[in-house]
Order: sequence, then C-alpha cells, then structure tokens
Amino acid sequence: MIKVIKVKNYDEVSDKAFEIMHDLVVSKPNAVLGLATGSSPVGLYQRMIKDHQENGTSYKDVITFNLDEYVGLEKSHPESYYLFMHRNLFDGLDVKEENIHIPSSEGDLTANCDSYNQALSQYQIDLQILGIGSNGHIGFNEPGTSFDSVTHIVDLKESTIKDNARFFDDDISKVPTKAITMGISNVMAAKQILLVASGANKANAIQATVMGVVTENVPASILQEHPNVIIIIDEAAGSSLVKEKK
Ligand code: GLP
Repeated sequence: MIKVIKVKNYDEVSDKAFEIMHDLVVSKPNAVLGLATGSSPVGLYQRMIKDHQENGTSYKDVITFNLDEYVGLEKSHPESYYLFMHRNLFDGLDVKEENIHIPSSEGDLTANCDSYNQALSQYQIDLQILGIGSNGHIGFNEPGTSFDSVTHIVDLKESTIKDNARFFDDDISKVPTKAITMGISNVMAAKQILLVASGANKANAIQATVMGVVTENVPASILQEHPNVIIIIDEAAGSSLVKEKK
C-alpha cells in the first residue's frame, strides 16, 4: 500500500523524510537502513547530520546497505557512489565503517553481486530510502528489469545516462554505461520503503508509480504491492496526480 504525502517544496520533502528516519533511529538504534544516492535524498542526509551534530542522535549501531554503484569508476572517483555517500552522509555521522555496505564494482562483478546478496540475506532492511529515475527506475533497476531480480549488473538506459550527465560536466561520454544494483526483490524485502521525489521531471514517473498498472516497464510501480510504502513529493513532482483527479 502506498501512502502519498504531498508537501510544498523540496525542503519540506526533506523535513518530512527526516522525521520518519529520526523516529526509526531513536526507537531502534540498531536499525538497518537501505540508502540511496542521487540528489533527492541529500536534504534528508543534511538533516541527519545536523541532528547528529546538534542533538547527538547516534548511528553507531546502525547498519547500512546502499542500492547501487557505477561500474567503471574507481571508489576514489568523485562521482562514485562510495564517495558520494561518504561526502554527503557517512563522514558527518558516527556510522561504523564496518557497518556500511555499498555494492563494489571493483574486481569480479559476479562474485560481488553474490556476496552482496549474501550480506543482504542476513538482515531485513527496516527503512529503505529510494529516489526515482525520470523513467521510473529505482536503484539502477531500469524499465524491463524482472521484479524477481536480486543484485545484478545492468546496462544503463540512454535516458538515465542523459539524466546523470549533469554530474559529469554535462558530457554523456563521461557517464558510465553500466552499474551494479540491488534488485527489485531485495528492495521489496524491506519492512518499510520511503521514496522521495521533487521537481516536474519526476511527475510522470510518480503518476505511473502511484496510479498506473503494475508493470516491469515502470519498475517503481511494484511498490503498489508492498505493504508499507510512503512517497513524499513536492507540488511539482505531484502535478500529474492532481491533473488525473480533476
Ligand atoms: C540515479 C540513482 C537512483 C536515483 C536516481 C534519481 O540513477 N541510481 O537511485 O533515484 O538517480 O536521481 P536524482 O535524485 O538525482 O533525481
């Protein structure tokens, strides 16, 4: 079941998402968090860091699993998701490095997928944070990915490469064409899922996710079949939902 919370702007999306995250970590200090990259969760991450620094909310017993990583970028590349997560979240919190899991795209990729699935199988994610691609992807599960998928290697769609070029000097030739991502069934195994989206370029994907048919062509549409999903959107990302109701 999807509960949609519509707020005014990106700041309010981040405030609301932080409330949910904060309640969880306070009530369950050893929570297992599923984390996402992209610009959408950055406001949430900033609030987590501010609250940790000002109020001492601790993440020392939290375990984290990230959704995905580019293939072809070393960990030390500024746009690797490894560095993104350290820069935007982990460096500002007291999460223990050994409790951080991020799929590795270095070395044997098949072995990396297997070991990530193995690590995931030892836990249940309490709260999975998601952004959404403009084509409805979650993690890097592009349209057409099987709902039964587990961690795997993907070829990124043209639209995703274009969307993400803004992080690579707007040069699509610099954007990796492959990634390693948690599969859709890994995501669906979480107890609760929190998807955040803002901006008009997400409006169609949000509309298809919330009101469309459940189809592998819109990976996020599977969320309709999860028992506990909250989608927090701003007015622009929710604009197609409004149109539909009129
Ligand atoms: C990338 C990530 C996704 C993310 C999406 C949207 O493709 N792999 O996990 O949800 O981008 O990014 P943004 O939040 O920057 O719009």
